[in-house]
Amino acid sequence: MLVKINGSAVYGVEAIPIIIEVNWMPSGKDPMIVGLPDNAVKESWQRVESTIKTNGYEMPRTKVVVNLAPADIKKSGAAFDLPIAIGLLAATEQLKNSTALADYVIMGELSLDGALRTVKGALPIAIQARKQGFKGLIVPKVNAREAGMVNNLHVYGVEHIQEVTDFFENGEQGLTPVVVNTRDEFFDSQYAFDIDFSDVKGQENIKRALEIAAAGGHNALLIGPPGAGKTMLAKRLPTILPPLTLPEALETTKIHSVAGKLPENATLISKRPFRSPHHTISDVALVGGGSTPQPGEISLAHNGVLFLDELPEFKRSVLEVMRQPIEERKVTISRARIAVDFPASFMLMASMNPCPCGFHNHPERACTCPPGAVQKYLNKISGPLLDRIDLHVEVTPVPFNELSSERSEKTSAAIREAVIRAREIQLARFEGTPGIYCNAQMSSKQLKEICVIDNIGQALLKKAMEKLGLSARAYDRILKVSRTIADLEGAATIRPEFLAEAIQYRSLDRENWAG
Ligand SMILES: Nc1ncnc2c1ncn2[C@@H]1O[C@H](COP(=O)(O)OP(=O)(O)OP(=O)(O)O)[C@@H](O)[C@H]1O
Ligand SMILES: [Mg+2]
Repeated sequence: MLVKINGSAVYGVEAIPIIIEVNWMPSGKDPMIVGLPDNAVKESWQRVESTIKTNGYEMPRTKVVVNLAPADIKKSGAAFDLPIAIGLLAATEQLKNSTALADYVIMGELSLDGALRTVKGALPIAIQARKQGFKGLIVPKVNAREAGMVNNLHVYGVEHIQEVTDFFENGEQGLTPVVVNTRDEFFDSQYAFDIDFSDVKGQENIKRALEIAAAGGHNALLIGPPGAGKTMLAKRLPTILPPLTLPEALETTKIHSVAGKLPENATLISKRPFRSPHHTISDVALVGGGSTPQPGEISLAHNGVLFLDELPEFKRSVLEVMRQPIEERKVTISRARIAVDFPASFMLMASMNPCPCGFHNHPERACTCPPGAVQKYLNKISGPLLDRIDLHVEVTPVPFNELSSERSEKTSAAIREAVIRAREIQLARFEGTPGIYCNAQMSSKQLKEICVIDNIGQALLKKAMEKLGLSARAYDRILKVSRTIADLEGAATIRPEFLAEAIQYRSLDRENWAG
């Protein structure tokens, strides 16, 4: 008997329908799995066989052919175990009542005893199943809530294959679909951070710089000695960014779902992600890739923050591969048969010590690096990457008496309010330009139109650039950042004082900085 089970395969952040055909032949031997399976799928047979026998069913003695259609797309992973096993039970008529199988999509990895293990991409699979008009989706219980966000689809979470066979034998009875109130859960947890800017004592000027970065979506680099609080400050950036919108949250959740990075029983990601990969990370792990393309850290940071701590320690090649995705806000991975896009729109935060010993330009301690070491250290960061960072912020440790002071600090909520107001001004400004939402994303043509400064401003900027020895590339960055400062003030024009503040955030462009 020939049986067809509906399954799904995930490419990029979308799922496509796959039909698992199982045919039990009257003669012949040895099972065959065809339709471009990878090794994990081929090994599936071992898990299926063990599950069937452990649960008191019989393995057929004659040939079984499993075809995963369409045959021209590569199938990977172990999630086809469950549909293959159910298909086999139906084809051999050990599953008595199989008429309803056609109404469901079934996916899950089996362990040897028939217990189910997590699958990747349950959310895009559910979206696809709904689109095709299926009545229900059966997935491992740990993935059910993530899939259950999709409306108008019964999503059943199961822990064991026996629950699936019972469900169909009893005429679709015995399982309760998950109910997820996405909206309520989303809005309830949006601001439930366990860290806050008020944890950071002092550092008013750094907090101000991060407020500007958040307000304009500017990439930023924190430069300072060990223990100055760089990591602590960077981690708090998501707490002052505007709230995720529902479509943004869904997009980010899909990426995490596909990567298998959603926590068990998770639903929608409601907070902006903060990713901080270690500096030993490989190119593929950072930007994505692999024979079955998987999203990298830059995509897991989509709509949030990518924090590269100790920037000069990263391999140069790793930083180079990031350049294009930073521009395009997505990464395209091409394989023989398909090309997939992973969104990668993130704010880049980086940190570094100013020099190998860490105390260059320190107010109290002397730098012990040999001459030229500072410049050499800086040169480890590629110029083009540095070009994409609008703010350079020098962080010095707060003195002990400030650390121990009981004075209350500005909260993330207060900073966020100002950020949101400034973003609203920008949204209105860029309304007619699709794909541009904040000042950091302005093209150089828009910059010329939008960041107009008067003669006094011009004169000030010229003088400052000469005096500090700022390079030409600093010019555009200063204009963009001063536009954001103006937006935070609710000011229509870029006033000289905004320029003056923006000029402070170009440390690394100063001629004598490494000197
Ligand atoms: N302004 C501050 N307010 C409160 N705690 C602080 C402050 N600055 C530093 N700390 C404390 O010092 C610790 C070290 O800070 P952090 O790890 O952020 O430093 P860093 O600049 O990243 O150093 P490194 O270069 O060694 O990574 C923090 O975890 C925090 O406990
Ligand atoms: Mg640190």
